[in-house]
Amino acid sequence: LGESPSFTVDYQHDCFRKDGEKFQYISGSIHYNRIPRVYWKDRLLKMYMAGLNAIQTYIPWNYHEALPGLYNFSGDRDLEHFLKLAQDIGLLVILRPGPYICAEWDMGGLPAWLLKKKDIVLRSTDSDYIAAVDKWMGKLLPMIKPYLYQNGGPIITVQVENEYGSYFACDYNYMRHLSKLTETSSTSRAFGKGRPHNVLTAWYVFSLGAHGAVFNSQVNSEFYTGWLDHWGSHHSVVSPTQVAKVLSEMLLMGANVNLYMFIGGTNFGYWNGANMPYAAQPTSYDYDAPLTEAGDLTEKYFAIREVIKMVRTSVSFYFYKNVIISAIIWIFFTDFFLFLLKLAVGILERDKVLSINVTGKARSQVDILVENMGRVNYGKQINDFKGLVSNLTLGADLLTDWTMYSLSIDEAVMKGLLGEKEPALFDPPQPADLSPPAFYGGSFVIPDGIPDLPQDTYIKLSSWRKGQIWINGFNVGRYWPTRGPQMTLFVPANILSTAAPNNVTVLELEGALCGSKACTVEFTNTPILNATVQSDYKQHSC
Ligand SMILES: *[C@@H]1O[C@H](CO)[C@@H](O)[C@H](O)[C@H]1NC(C)=O
Ligand SMILES: *[C@@H]1O[C@H](CO)[C@@H](O)[C@H](O)[C@H]1NC(C)=O
Ligand SMILES: *[C@@H]1O[C@H](CO)[C@@H](O)[C@H](O)[C@H]1NC(C)=O
Ligand SMILES: *[C@@H]1O[C@H](CO)[C@@H](O)[C@H](O)[C@H]1NC(C)=O
Ligand SMILES: *[C@@H]1O[C@H](CO)[C@@H](O)[C@H](O)[C@H]1NC(C)=O
Repeated sequence: LGESPSFTVDYQHDCFRKDGEKFQYISGSIHYNRIPRVYWKDRLLKMYMAGLNAIQTYIPWNYHEALPGLYNFSGDRDLEHFLKLAQDIGLLVILRPGPYICAEWDMGGLPAWLLKKKDIVLRSTDSDYIAAVDKWMGKLLPMIKPYLYQNGGPIITVQVENEYGSYFACDYNYMRHLSKLTETSSTSRAFGKGRPHNVLTAWYVFSLGAHGAVFNSQVNSEFYTGWLDHWGSHHSVVSPTQVAKVLSEMLLMGANVNLYMFIGGTNFGYWNGANMPYAAQPTSYDYDAPLTEAGDLTEKYFAIREVIKMVRTSVSFYFYKNVIISAIIWIFFTDFFLFLLKLAVGILERDKVLSINVTGKARSQVDILVENMGRVNYGKQINDFKGLVSNLTLGADLLTDWTMYSLSIDEAVMKGLLGEKEPALFDPPQPADLSPPAFYGGSFVIPDGIPDLPQDTYIKLSSWRKGQIWINGFNVGRYWPTRGPQMTLFVPANILSTAAPNNVTVLELEGALCGSKACTVEFTNTPILNATVQSDYKQHSC
């Protein structure tokens, strides 16, 4: 519970691990610089709906630093917006920031102004080249840092350089320099405890191989769905059947695969690159990819989706992101809006725990929250009153003169009477402690514009003890994972909204178990109704 996110390479088992769990990525390449910003969301959603769990993108240096020191990260160049969209939609990101990217992009992404020094040796330890790279990376890497998986973002791997093995300079000091730069300025805490260097090395190793090769049994970072064109040559095509067949083989092997491209897009303006002997690439970078240059679905798209369905059974089910929940208010019975902290002393439970030991000062005030756990629905005890329905004693003394009232909780939640949601007003309680009842709140966004959303889902409250949860004021029900067997609550689609952020309110009665970490509620597509429980309850049926 509550571990911070991690993404690592497990060399022993030849696999990736995401938060400790074995992880297989099924990724697709999309270059934000080849798609107008207004279409980013549409294309990413289509990738998500094909069953991908990740995307891969380059960052073209020359697109962002057209002149030395003149940076542009706005409009179609708004890299951060692109990363946020990917994350909102539920896609991880495999990042290839260069500085050299190849990519059939003008000068492989290197700014042409580097050539002002006539004899500059690009992609080497040439001092002018390195100075420019350091300045650019010094701008870029801190920007990317918050989006690393370890820091709560979508980026799981960062590539250093690109296909360097095929370059004549083959300057190991240059590679070492880049690795170090990337590690120290950006990723030192990025990939979980202990092994950032290994992860970088691994990704660096993958990128050394030849085009299309399976670098080891587990990773293919460029599986070609189509191929590039040149002015004056035939348009390249790859058959959907062939793509589906090979993809299926790789996925069944357990390989991590990136489909290059999933959508090619357009080399607007003068951005296309060229190969030698000189052959320039055309404006269209359609690539015969599963999504056309204009974002339309093709036969290849559907063929790929069918293949992915075999290995990812959850494809059609939308995964909402986990929601960060912060404490918003502590219940206070004498005065709802006093924030004075009370001490929780214990829990009484009908037919089970009828007395508890308490310590405290004489004349202390005693508050009791009586929870309606459900009125008896069978037999002669159906007249089931709720509230303080019998005598309460402290030692030998009968406690009298109670002020009793009911709380209109549904109404309070619905009307937003619980106060501000951020920031957390109190430090979350320590896991072992019993805490006074408290409300927590958070929200999550469901993207609009795809017909299948919102969808039914389940909510899982593993780091909580017992309480009630509302979504958009709808009382979803009681959770009690510390008792079981039910661990997930059904969330019907009709209470969810794409028009506004969905508001989650949690009333935790005993103290959340998130400790010093942010409390979260998780969404899942797998109901768990059968967790093991100890119970002496004898069943009868109605
Ligand atoms: C930055 O790039 C965007 C998107 O291409 C463009 O609209 C804007 O004019 C550029 N800003 C500057 C200052 O060049
Ligand atoms: C209360 O404390 C006494 C003395 O330590 C102990 O014998 C008793 O079992 C405790 N009762 C409960 C309900 O914990
Ligand atoms: C509750 O207390 C009152 C007053 O002492 C007493 O008359 C009554 O019998 C008690 N009820 C129970 C159920 O013990
Ligand atoms: C969630 O709460 C915010 C702030 O009160 C409100 O603007 C928004 O409409 C609510 N969302 C839904 C789906 O009701
Ligand atoms: C709960 O049910 C699932 C699915 O049927 C099963 O795989 C799992 O072993 C069950 N767990 C327990 C604790 O019975």
